[in-house]
Amino acid sequence: TKAPLRVAITGASGQIGYQLLFRIASGEMLGKDQPIILQCLELPQALNALKGVSMELDDCAFPLLKGIVQTDDPNRAFAGADYALLVGAKPRSKGMERGQLLEANAQIFSAQGKALNNNANRDTLRVLVVGNPANTNALIAARNAPNIDPKRFTAMTRLDHNRGLAQLADKTGCGVTDIQKFCIWGNHSATQYPDITHTTIKGSPIKNYVDDAVWVKDNFIPTVQQRGAAIINARGASSAASAASAAIDHMRDWTFGTNGQWQSMGVYSDGSYGADKGLYFSFPVICKNGNYEIVQGLQLDAFSKDRFDVTRKELLSEMDAIKHLL
Ligand code: NAI
Repeated sequence: TKAPLRVAITGASGQIGYQLLFRIASGEMLGKDQPIILQCLELPQALNALKGVSMELDDCAFPLLKGIVQTDDPNRAFAGADYALLVGAKPRSKGMERGQLLEANAQIFSAQGKALNNNANRDTLRVLVVGNPANTNALIAARNAPNIDPKRFTAMTRLDHNRGLAQLADKTGCGVTDIQKFCIWGNHSATQYPDITHTTIKGSPIKNYVDDAVWVKDNFIPTVQQRGAAIINARGASSAASAASAAIDHMRDWTFGTNGQWQSMGVYSDGSYGADKGLYFSFPVICKNGNYEIVQGLQLDAFSKDRFDVTRKELLSEMDAIKHLL
């Protein structure tokens, strides 16, 4: 039998946490033969709620769940961590400006980056930042963890990717697994660019199924970009179950690979495609042997280059707003 892996989750008693913990504990992220210890971080005022969630986890009698840590101390939450899902973040409150939101989160993620640096299992660690602004929070956390390879930090754009797949499947009448070479470029925000210019369905170009540039520009792209807001309008609360599901997909694929298929991940930019080196930027990636590689050699048409640049510039401006904290 395998030794347990330590999975740290911040914001563990929030909406996404409540969807995430049970699926991780049941083995959906790391496999049905991998024992785990959940290490939950919450704010002091949410520790009581966390206690309730922990009682429910006990009551599921998950065979793989070997322990639950409940703490408001990042050093304890990240002690020996093999995985870290950074979900907890400061939400935008009424009247708060974008710069203030970035700054408030920068404080949280710089402290958590340091705590990861000092306590986590640095050589095998995989970090996924879910809490918004996810890409820039990943940048801050990574910069505050000088002893951890920046490639071990990632930001979540898998929900955007999955949303795009669902829209394409609906439009073409095909299954989501028939659709390949789709990707999200850039920021997890309304400037993201969902790109179907390389996409194939059952191995043939998507144009053979839907050849409608107006639909792509005026319907598909904005629907994916605005999906978060549409869910809030309909549900009265932001996406949580779908976000948790995407987080599990991201970590599972990073660990076990994608069989040569593309997925989208916000990763440390090495300058590929002109995304400024050091930004956490969503690229098409292929995961293999526990690592990921940015897909290389793609041609971006004029429209794609335009969209790419908008989201790239937004990420640069986010970085600029918090540069005094880097
Ligand atoms: P929520 O407000 O229900 O839960 C957040 C939890 O984090 C709360 O329990 C809070 O006490 C905790 N928290 C706040 N600051 C913390 C800190 N410094 N350390 C530890 N815990 C802390 O929010 P929800 O719905 O679970 O969403 C969490 C984040 O995920 C939000 O920032 C949201 O915008 C983001 N998100 C990102 C998505 C993506 O695709 N990247 C998709 C959906 C949500």
